[in-house]
Amino acid sequence: MDNRVYIFDTTLRDGEQVPGCQLNTIEKVEVAKVLEQLGVDVIEAGFPISSPGDFKSVVEISKAVTWPVICALTRAVEKDIDVAAESLKYAKRGRIHTGIGTSPYHIQFKLNSTPDEIIERAIAAVKYAKRYVEDVEFYAEDAGRSDNVYLARVIEAVIKAGATVVNIPDTTGYCLPSDYGAKIKFLMENVSNIHKAVISTHCHNDLGMATANSIAGVMNGARQVEVTLNGIGERAGNTALEEVVMILRSHKELDLHTNINAKNIYKTSRLVSSLMNMPVQANKAIVGRNAFAHSSGIHQDGVLKNRENYEIIDPVEVGISESSIVLTARSGRAALKHRLEILGIKLDKEKLDEVYADFLALADKKKDIKEDDLLVLVGERGMGERRIKLDFLQVVTGKNLVPMATVKLDIAGEKFSATESGNGPIDACIKAVKSIIHRKVTLQEFLIQAINKGSDDVGKVHMQVEYNESIYNGFGANTDVITASVEAFIDAINKIGNAEKAAEK
Ligand code: KIV
Ligand code: ZN
Repeated sequence: MDNRVYIFDTTLRDGEQVPGCQLNTIEKVEVAKVLEQLGVDVIEAGFPISSPGDFKSVVEISKAVTWPVICALTRAVEKDIDVAAESLKYAKRGRIHTGIGTSPYHIQFKLNSTPDEIIERAIAAVKYAKRYVEDVEFYAEDAGRSDNVYLARVIEAVIKAGATVVNIPDTTGYCLPSDYGAKIKFLMENVSNIHKAVISTHCHNDLGMATANSIAGVMNGARQVEVTLNGIGERAGNTALEEVVMILRSHKELDLHTNINAKNIYKTSRLVSSLMNMPVQANKAIVGRNAFAHSSGIHQDGVLKNRENYEIIDPVEVGISESSIVLTARSGRAALKHRLEILGIKLDKEKLDEVYADFLALADKKKDIKEDDLLVLVGERGMGERRIKLDFLQVVTGKNLVPMATVKLDIAGEKFSATESGNGPIDACIKAVKSIIHRKVTLQEFLIQAINKGSDDVGKVHMQVEYNESIYNGFGANTDVITASVEAFIDAINKIGNAEKAAEK
């Protein structure tokens, strides 16, 4: 049996049925082109009878896309099939996807019909579609809850009528993987002409089993899988394309492969998510923000020693540049060192310990430490010896209050303190520092910047001071901008000291 699994993408039909996810024709064409680059075999472009917009989209997608088969959905109704055929007139390879419900629920309560009459209608629809296109796919809606013996009769009849693909949807997402797999096996073994058609899976995710069911399907003989990007679709969604593709790639023992260019998965997922206004949950397999992110110290250390300790897929395979080591308060030194090395910063053990202590203090205040934050943390150490250190700072300020600052400095191990008032809290602090260091330093420039957005963010302060006709730059960062400002000022003063020392040598 052929070991190629065909990928039938229904993001633009079943996926697009989600309220709030509707796309206009231009957007659908954009998605279709990206799906073509991704390497899908079939694009289900819409349900043309359902609206003029759907009709137009199938027409435009047919014009814009070359390689994949373009498929249009219909009910087992002649008018639907006429309109679908019309919408496919520009398709290089067009397919009509027609069908009818086969479960007792659908036959009795939805269609008010009988099992035999359903078979007649199914045969008639396939034959009618065959007048327009060679490639006709038949779906047995709610096949998941249909009796297998009856389903086999339906499938045999539609293949005889000319169906090239037979779709076995678990429309309500009810099946267990073992039952769904057994259903496909039953059809493989009990439909005499099954070799003349491809069996397709179409699984919904109501119980979170869509992907497992699709895989059970292909393990038992199905060779087409109907999927959507990010698993979007009605209710809990459809089988996710990225999951099926990566399962087949990861489990080589299944000896099944698709034509998907996996490197495009991530960018296609992003495009669909943003155009459809449908955020991808952070822990979504393969494409979620956290799918390759490691945040606990033990995992980070393990991944850095060997990625495969905690990853079964190389993120590069799906177009993500690398696994991310998320720096949080639970990260260890190994993760910090790794991220610093990526930034080109190599620190000796002592400096790394210092940065790590500051990092933990910052990580306690800020959920996620970004590269900018690291540069700020390291920056302080890259600026030579720090003879003067801020030991204590207390500021009293507020409306109708004269700002007062008490500063304690550690100068080469000795403690000095001063209290001053000022025009504002920072002015009071600077005056207090100046009164301790006894240097005639004038502030030339003062810049406060937030590194990212958000009130929990680090404020970055640059200060430029003048001393003895020379300019010195100081730099500080803290979630508290007053502390950052005092540190920037002290940094500049330390540089004056370092410059004087260097001049003495
Ligand atoms: O879920 C389903 O049964 C469907 C069919 C129309 C193919 O989407
Ligand atoms: Zn469906």
